[in-house]
This record gives sequence, C-alpha cells and structure tokens, in this order.
Amino acid sequence: MQAVKQPGLRLSAIASSLDFLMPFQPRYSDLLNEQHFYRNPSILELANRPVHPVTLRQLANFGHKLTEKKLLSSANFVRTELPIRLALKVKELQELNFGIANNYHLNQVYQSYCYCVNAFRRAPVINSLEDNDRFCRFISHVLDDHLIILPHLMMGSLEVSVLKSLSQEKLDKFISSMIRSRISRRVIMEQHLSLSKSFQSQSNPVLVKPQNYIGEAFEQGSIYEHLRLTADVVRSFLQSIYPGLKMPELVIEGSDLKFEFLTSHLNYIFEEILRNAFKATISAMLKRNKTLSQEELVKLTPPAVVVQVVPRKDSVAIKFSDKGGGMPKDELSKVWSFGKSPELASQYLKNFYKMSRYDLPDRPPMRDHQFWNMGAGRADLESRTDETKADSGTGERKDLDGVLGDLGRMESSKKVQKSTLLALARRPFEYTLGISLPMCKVYTDYWNGTLEIYSVQGYGSDVYLTLGKIGTNHDKLQLDRA
Ligand SMILES: Nc1ncnc2c1ncn2[C@@H]1O[C@H](COP(=O)(O)OP(=O)(O)OP(=O)(O)O)[C@@H](O)[C@H]1O
Ligand SMILES: [Mg+2]
Repeated sequence: MQAVKQPGLRLSAIASSLDFLMPFQPRYSDLLNEQHFYRNPSILELANRPVHPVTLRQLANFGHKLTEKKLLSSANFVRTELPIRLALKVKELQELNFGIANNYHLNQVYQSYCYCVNAFRRAPVINSLEDNDRFCRFISHVLDDHLIILPHLMMGSLEVSVLKSLSQEKLDKFISSMIRSRISRRVIMEQHLSLSKSFQSQSNPVLVKPQNYIGEAFEQGSIYEHLRLTADVVRSFLQSIYPGLKMPELVIEGSDLKFEFLTSHLNYIFEEILRNAFKATISAMLKRNKTLSQEELVKLTPPAVVVQVVPRKDSVAIKFSDKGGGMPKDELSKVWSFGKSPELASQYLKNFYKMSRYDLPDRPPMRDHQFWNMGAGRADLESRTDETKADSGTGERKDLDGVLGDLGRMESSKKVQKSTLLALARRPFEYTLGISLPMCKVYTDYWNGTLEIYSVQGYGSDVYLTLGKIGTNHDKLQLDRA
C-alpha cells in the first residue's frame, strides 16, 4: 500500500499504537478514538470555512451555455466546496457525545467522511479536460462509496433509539441534517457529472441549451404523468399481493401543471405517499369485510384515492385523500420522526437485516488513496475490492444492492429512474422500515416544500404536499443546505 501523508491517516497510525485506549477505540474503526474525535485540527479548520450555497438558478446558468471554462470552474467549485461540507458533518458527529458517535453505524459514517475529506484534499486544481475526466472518476467513486451512508444513518438512528441515548428531538435534528446535506452534496456532484457528460458529447465548443435547462435529471414533467406512473407501479405491486381483488382507482382533480423538478425525487415522494394510501385503503376494506368469502371480496370496489393539484405562483400544492381508515392521534404524532420507540426500533432493525441483500460490516469505508487509485470499469472495481480487503482485513467488498441501495441512488443524474422507482415500490410490505415519511419530509424540505397529514381515525387521511417551483422562489438559497 502506498504511503499516505494525509493528516487523518497519520492520526490513525497514532491511534492504532494506543492500544491502552481500548475499549474507547472500537475494533471496527481505524479512526475513531478520543484523540481523533476531539482534536482533529485540520478537519475542524475546514469546517470553519464558509460554505457557498448554490442555487438551482446558478446550476441552470452553468448548463445553459456550456463552455470548457465553465466546466472547469464547476469542477473546481466541487473540489473546494465538498470537503468543507463533509467537514461540517464530521463536526456535527463530533458534537454528539463520544458514546453516541461510537455506535458502529455512525462510526462508519464518521470514517467515510474523514477519509473522503482527505481524498478531496489530494485533488489538484483542475486545469484541463483530462484533469476533469480524472476528477469525474473520483467523484463517481465518492458517490458509489457513499451509497452505504444512508443505511448506516438509518440503522444508527434505530440503534440510538433502542438505547434511548439521545432525545428524539436531537436525533431527528441530527439525522435530518445529515440526510439533507447528503442530498445537497450528491445533487452538486451528480450535476457536475451530468454537465461533463453533456460537454463531452457535444461537437460544438459552446453548447446552448434551453434557457431553463438545469441538467438531464431535471425534467419539465407533467404532474399528472408522474402521479399516474407512480400509482401504476404501486397498484401493480399491491395487485401481486392480492390477486383477484379490485385495486383502488386514482382520481386526479385540478389542472395539470408542468414544472422543472428533479424527477427521481418527485417520483419517490409521490410513490411513498401513494403506497401508504393504497395499502391503507385495501387493508381497511379487508378489515371492514372480514366476514365475507373470497368470492364476495373480489366483487368489492375499494374507494378511490383522490389527488387534487393546485398550482400556485411559487409552488404547487397537492392533496392526497384516501379512505383507508386513518390512524390514531398518538401514532400520527410519531410518523415524522427517525427516532422510534425502543420496541418499534428493534422491529425495524430486524427488518433492515432481513431485507439487506448485502452484509453491512463487509463494506468498510474506502480509504482516501483508494478513491484516486481506482480507474473505471470492472477490473478496477475488482482491484478496489482487493485493496479494501487488504486494507481492512474484513473480507470482500460488495456493491450496495437492495432497497436502500436504490434509495441511495435517488440523486442520480440519469433520466427517469424507472427501475429504481420500481424496485423501491416493490419492496415487501411486511418489512416496513418506518422511514418513508421522515425521508419524504427531508426531501420536501430540501425543495422548500411542506408535508403534513390530517387523519380521521376510522375514516381516512389527507396528505398535504407543497413543493417550491424552481426559478420562481425569491429565496432559492434555501434549496441548498450544507
Ligand atoms: N394514508 C395512510 N393511512 C393510514 N395510515 C397511514 C397512512 N400513511 C401512513 N400511515 C401510517 O404511518 C406509518 C408510517 O408510515 P411510513 O410510510 O413512514 O412507514 P411504513 O409505511 O410503516 O414503512 P416504510 O418505510 O416501509 O414505508 C405507517 O406504518 C402507517 O401506520
Ligand atoms: Mg410507507
């Protein structure tokens, strides 16, 4: 392995010689000990630098008339901005008490971010298209490596819930902030990859796109179309569980609207809300008619799920109404939280393990030099596996798969990710994770939106969603959170 002179790893070398610090230095961590945790001046110095929020209008300007100079300045922006944002999150982890961050999952996040900050520090200034190619390969590896961060955050928060080691309010604030900034970072990196790709494929030195063009992932989509697409996916999955039963209709009211949005986010939010509504509708119908025979049940028509679309000047408001029996007040008050009761958290943790087609402990964080030493393609992927294996001694690295891997790919700049959406919508109903509504809230918040539920127990629920329109809000800085 190549000698590494980065500060994080120097500290790791010191840490590994301080055996007497056990049990404070867990076996699964090369980095986390009290020295590193409380005294890492280089990371703290970075975290004190100002972040530069980017608005989608700025991203759009980059995409509108793309020149080599603009592309290189976008690359250098990512190169200098991302380590500051990562360092800020390391600081947030440091602000939890040591025992909490010492949790296996949160520790993996801590290590990943520290290594990644160091990897960004190795990035030389990007002066040419060749430099940019190398940089794009690097950020692709960062995106790939950090897919696992989301499951670690979720499982970490559930373990913290089981142990009751942090108040629900603090845990929510911390996890939401980690996820929101992750979305921001991924959108910025994906956006740069998407610009680089479209620049590569152009024959003209200046590529002129439509005025509002932001990137290929941002589609001028019709709300009606997105609603129908997601409803079809959810309905067909539900139908496969209840063959023969009639599925609820989706009735859309109000005027259709086309606006620019990150398609994968929009579909995810719609899909989770509709999944809950359809599932509740069918469950309530079966509960109300539990004395009926199978022949009688198949003749029943479940009540429709009604969606009303109300376009506004700066936003769009969408109301989803179902007659799925609603939920009790005390249950409703808990649905937004990542923190759960110890009993529920244990149940969700079990579901995580049942659903994981990957073995979390076998996917150690990538070291800083590994981000750079990998090329593209299968052979490189395999060499990365070997190197990770050699470095960590914890076995073979596996690509992240399954529901959470799909969730992690949400910010992908690839066009409508039907397969990701399908995979998410088809996750087994019995293995619920209790994360969808809190996740949707983080996504809507990212888009200057709101998400609320009003529920009448024994009758049904209304879900109110608003989403800010890109390019019309005055305060677009809010769109981007460090
Ligand atoms: N439209 C609805 N009608 C009735 N209950 C609902 C509705 N939407 C949500 N709920 C209740 O809120 C809970 C939390 O919903 P959420 O989508 O966050 O998690 P989940 O559906 O349990 O699991 P998953 O994360 O797999 O979606 C649900 O378990 C359900 O009890
Ligand atoms: Mg759900």
